[in-house]
Amino acid sequence: MTAFRTLDGIEVAGKRVLVRVDLNVPMREGAVGDTTRIDRVVPTLHELSERGAKVVVASHFGRPKGKPVPAMSLGPLAEPLSQALGGLPVRFVSDCVGGEAEAAAAALAPGDVALLENLRFHAGEEANDPAFADALARLADLYVNDAFSAAHRAHASTTAVAERLPSAAGRLMQAELQALGKALQAPERPVIAVVGGAKVSTKLAVLANLIRRVDCLVIGGAMANTFLHARGVAVGASLHEPDLAGDAHRIAAEAEDAGCEILLPTDVVVTREFREGAESEAVPIAAVPADGMILDLGPETCARIEAALNGSRTLVWNGPLGAFEIEPFDRATATCARTAARLTGAGALLSVAGGGDTVAALQGAGVLGAFSYVSTAGGAFLEWLEGRTLPGVAALEAGGP
Ligand code: 3PG
Ligand code: MG
Repeated sequence: MTAFRTLDGIEVAGKRVLVRVDLNVPMREGAVGDTTRIDRVVPTLHELSERGAKVVVASHFGRPKGKPVPAMSLGPLAEPLSQALGGLPVRFVSDCVGGEAEAAAAALAPGDVALLENLRFHAGEEANDPAFADALARLADLYVNDAFSAAHRAHASTTAVAERLPSAAGRLMQAELQALGKALQAPERPVIAVVGGAKVSTKLAVLANLIRRVDCLVIGGAMANTFLHARGVAVGASLHEPDLAGDAHRIAAEAEDAGCEILLPTDVVVTREFREGAESEAVPIAAVPADGMILDLGPETCARIEAALNGSRTLVWNGPLGAFEIEPFDRATATCARTAARLTGAGALLSVAGGGDTVAALQGAGVLGAFSYVSTAGGAFLEWLEGRTLPGVAALEAGGP
């Protein structure tokens, strides 16, 4: 666990507090498609407002590349944010720096909340430009970062501004870091990691870090095909990365040296068509037909994973085990996730999940609320799994000027 100040360590009454959040939410036809990221920053904003802070909220949205793009305005987020805050008015400010933003911040009364326009409308944000960070710092007396999911970016609002104002982690950042710390930094053993998804190539660094830290590593999804293929298993028409055979061998050898068991499929679900309700069957890995596509793990493999979960005290999960978007290829993901949820509910397992498709996969399995902690972060969760120092977290550890 790293050392940083939390909201408990700052006096906020009557002070202007710049709060970096991640309102980069999925939108559907102009409306918020999933409110999870909004809901998760409510405790911090609510607490600051209650304690009499003048709350100035800043976020990025999309990738407008340093200039105003109307379709990426944060304007449409003001009302949903206000609703999430129980009807507390949220005043939208049409720029995030400069005269208008400074006047808006100065005009706030204790408890008021303002939402600034998209930080990435200015090139200085992603460039981590000192002058842009100065301009942000002029809006506030204190800085709070509640955007773990943006902490892998060394941008002005996540790093440079923290050098200019006394800083603290918000409640969501605090919860993320505490949950992740319990899962990998000081975990109860045995620790099991479940890693799925399509490509080994995007997760080489994740696998390399995990084998040094966990007792058992389950590899699922199409990633497993690459490992099977490297071992001489014929994977038919399945998605796999033949060029990564060498990496697969190296990871397996390093895992053995580190005393980490790698759990690979012994049976798989194959189909000849990739569509909903397609005819499919479970076969041993030695019997994948030449025109067959592996789209899920088989029941025997699921039972082995469930047994391994049963014998573990801590779980870190990233990525689906099969093509979970299409039934019935969500079965292995759902079965194993439900077992993890049940063990968590029984107090036998601490379960932490996150990254990209993972939240959607766990939601599909109906267990999102049943894990100990599910991170809202995508890329940041992966970089944390790689064992990297996240710039936004490192900046908080310094605590300010
Ligand atoms: C995310 O959605 O993963 C974060 O908001 C970071 O967004 P970015 O990948 O555009 O930096
Ligand atoms: Mg991303």
